[in-house]
Amino acid sequence: MDPLNVAPGAPATRQDEWKLAAARAAVVEAASGMVIGLGTGSTAELFVRELAERVRRGMRVSGVPTSERTAALAHDLGIPLVALDTVDYLDISFDGADEVTLPHLDLVKGHGGALLREKLVAIASRRRIILVDETKVVSALGAGTAIPIEVEVFGWRHTARRLAALGCEVTRRPLNGAQANDPSAEPFITDGGHYTLTLVFATAPEPVSLAARLKATPGVVDHGLFLGMTERVYIGGSDGVRVIDRP
Ligand code: A5P
Repeated sequence: MDPLNVAPGAPATRQDEWKLAAARAAVVEAASGMVIGLGTGSTAELFVRELAERVRRGMRVSGVPTSERTAALAHDLGIPLVALDTVDYLDISFDGADEVTLPHLDLVKGHGGALLREKLVAIASRRRIILVDETKVVSALGAGTAIPIEVEVFGWRHTARRLAALGCEVTRRPLNGAQANDPSAEPFITDGGHYTLTLVFATAPEPVSLAARLKATPGVVDHGLFLGMTERVYIGGSDGVRVIDRP
């Protein structure tokens, strides 16, 4: 057994081990009686499994899932679930991210296809915790990865043209596994029934003004920039887990 006590069938790569370490470190912030936001993606899934282990041992929590995928996993693992609209607020939420900048803990999220529900759950939470491995830490958002945008299906090509006018390449996300540049590929549809467009910028955009312009673009439901929202990040890496709070 390695130092992370990784069971057979559990994460195998270094990156996966770092994600698991972050999830295990963060789960101590969950306590009985809490309403907890459950994120989407591979790191959030590891967190859900850790939380389920505590529920199995008697912790009483209610989970608010950010996707149908997370809802199915949490349900299968025995975590009681409630819908967002049945609670006034969540005590805390735990989620992954595609990029995070230090020290302000701004994020790109949404490559798991769930950014809208992730944002709605995060914004309803009193505390917002992000779990990542150290490969997700970047010096500027949107330079190394595309920025996902959830858009209304009606008129989406017009929306895509308006977004391209911001100075980026725009691609519609295909169903998982299909090539983005294959025009016959079936589109990925979010849980809310929207398309996801991905924006690639040649140089890192200024995130605050970009977020405002995206939000003001007709057809955009929401975008994957999560600015000024995160309270704490757990970063798993080669030196263990670092815990960083937003100044
Ligand atoms: C889901 O829509 C995303 O915001 C994920 O949280 C993000 O893509 C990180 O996913 P991983 O933990 O799988 O890297």
